[in-house]
Amino acid sequence: MNVDNLLKQLTTKEKIGQLLQLAPFYFDIDLKAEVAGRIRSLNIDREGIFMSGSVLGISNASEMIKVQQKYLDINKHKIPLMFMADIIHGYETIFPVPIALASSFNPLIAFQTARISAIEASTAGIHVTFSPMADLSRDPRWGRVVESFGEDPYLAGVFSAQMVKGYQNDGIEKIGNLAACVKHFAAYGASEAGRDYNTVDVSKTALYNMYLKSYKTAIDAGAKMMMTAFNVLDGVPATINKFLLRTVLRDQWKSDAVTISDYDSLKQVLDHGCAENEKDAAYRAIQAGLDIEMASVCYVNYLEELIDEGIVDIKKLDEAVLRVLQLKKDLGLFEDSFKGASIDREKELVRSKEHLKISKKVALESAVLLKNEQTLPLNKKQKIALIGPYAKSKSTNGPWSWHGKIEHNLSLEEVFNNNDINLTFVSDAENIDQLSQQNITQIEASEVVVLALGEDARLSGEAHSRSDIKLPNHQDTLVKLARSLNKEIVVILFNGRPLDLSNIMDSNAILETWFLGSRATEAIFDLIYGHANPSGKLPMSFPRTVGQIPVYYNHLNTGRPLTDNNQNYEYLSRFLDVENTPLFSFGHGLSYASFKYSDLEISQIEFDVDTTLRLSINVTNESQIPGHEVVQLYIRDHVAKISRPVKELKKFKKIWLEGKQTQTVVFELDIHDLSYFDSNGNETYDSGKFTIMVGSNSQETLNIDIWLKGVKHDYQK
Ligand code: NOJ
Repeated sequence: MNVDNLLKQLTTKEKIGQLLQLAPFYFDIDLKAEVAGRIRSLNIDREGIFMSGSVLGISNASEMIKVQQKYLDINKHKIPLMFMADIIHGYETIFPVPIALASSFNPLIAFQTARISAIEASTAGIHVTFSPMADLSRDPRWGRVVESFGEDPYLAGVFSAQMVKGYQNDGIEKIGNLAACVKHFAAYGASEAGRDYNTVDVSKTALYNMYLKSYKTAIDAGAKMMMTAFNVLDGVPATINKFLLRTVLRDQWKSDAVTISDYDSLKQVLDHGCAENEKDAAYRAIQAGLDIEMASVCYVNYLEELIDEGIVDIKKLDEAVLRVLQLKKDLGLFEDSFKGASIDREKELVRSKEHLKISKKVALESAVLLKNEQTLPLNKKQKIALIGPYAKSKSTNGPWSWHGKIEHNLSLEEVFNNNDINLTFVSDAENIDQLSQQNITQIEASEVVVLALGEDARLSGEAHSRSDIKLPNHQDTLVKLARSLNKEIVVILFNGRPLDLSNIMDSNAILETWFLGSRATEAIFDLIYGHANPSGKLPMSFPRTVGQIPVYYNHLNTGRPLTDNNQNYEYLSRFLDVENTPLFSFGHGLSYASFKYSDLEISQIEFDVDTTLRLSINVTNESQIPGHEVVQLYIRDHVAKISRPVKELKKFKKIWLEGKQTQTVVFELDIHDLSYFDSNGNETYDSGKFTIMVGSNSQETLNIDIWLKGVKHDYQK
């Protein structure tokens, strides 16, 4: 198929149709009846529907086949529809939510889950997934942190890239692979106060050095599409933001990814106060470089008029349409319009034993042991009271798991019973008021109180921001009760965001499990009974109080930093009522093993821009318990033209250590690991001191200072 020739055969209206994305129900119209209901309210005719280019959200192979067949029967040029959907952390086999996946610090896992998601979703005839979400997230009030890889641009970049590679694998033309659509371009995670869809106002240096990095890494990994964000950037809605869509994406990053608006976000440009009407919105969008319009119809209704009036050059439309047709071609849809959709493959592959086994393996690596006073692992002889909203619940899939069915999951109670745990009391009470005096007597008969606490899956995700991020419904009263009864307390958390845990710190152990997916509770059981060793690390800081937010590890130093030596001085950047540090910092996560770091060595103390530095460190498992450890390398650039963060993750390696084993871990660093971007997006660096820090988390590291030579500072020129 020659897409240039195809383009030439299309009328302007047919071209514009390729830029429209609609939900499947639009195609379900009676061809003879009046256009009515939702279709009518969209103000688009029947002909327009059968000229549209792509479909949002499809449930299974038979639905896809039906829609595609009907469309091809009517569409004059037989240009197949492209099917897109939100396959975020699994199709029917559900994997840990992205924030949990990032906690694994194991990029291979991201690749593997994306692979399986693609294999399963492609059986439904889905061609593009709206994943990964590369938005850097620093505010846990924002419900969408659950879909993110956390607060660090490097970690989020590595995970986003692995997801892209996992989906697209050895080529999007092959059955079983999907094209990846990175989202939401850009800086959606910086919405003020964490309130979803809210204003974003970040500097260009913060953009280039923090917010843009993970999208860029995903684009460099070959992502075929990019979705715009709902927010404004520098006052201009991302959907019509020329700086983002042309300067950054096309000119600086040299990407030809197809761009798509978010749901209705082009029409929302009017609510932003940046277009007079839908015609104006269509004009600004095509000029800015938006290709596909999702769910609204500014292009369909006004682009032709704008071209006829000579206001928009048809070349701009052709460019966008060509990109869409090329993607259809790259996906192999002109050869096989029903590509992938197969009821037989669906039966064979979806939720296969092998996929579920991997889901459990991933879950085991994604939980984070936040606190442990040697209470965990438990032993099977102990008498357990299991209480809390997640004691009997199967709702471990989390947000964005619409194909996954929670009935397939097991509750903690079921898993405990399947393993013959001596349960003296089981209750899904959320707080002390829901327990009777008799219940309290039953709890007294236990040795350990296991509290399965958390947020309902509907408390995080899109449009689910919270201003209070403590455990809801007074769940902390269960900890207080167990403490007053002098029990050992193990808290298992199910939630989609970092929480303010300050009022449950009386617990002896806290295991953060986020939403671990289809095999969550079996994995949790293995972790708390020591059949597996926790190895997750936090991809996002947990605040001591909501008043500290945003609190993240890679902050700037300020001119008046608080240090270990100046605590008594008054005029410092700090709060009067709370420490500056978070309760649990980025990179934190405990193990049942204990790891010692020693012998940090570097190949050169002084280096120049062409040097590749080689670092080595010994990591020893001082315990007998084998386990994974995540060796983390941070840098600090002490002197630069712009203030640089006090710490930045640059490398990490997840290693396996047998009991008493020592391993030498080696890292290489070059100038790109030490450089930064100026406000025009140019990579730059300056002579002077850098500190390299290596350790088990962002706070406990062994350090070494090195010096970059040979780059002149302004005052030396
Ligand atoms: C809105 C969400 O912001 C986006 O992430 C998602 O991909 C689209 N809806 C499509 O469902």
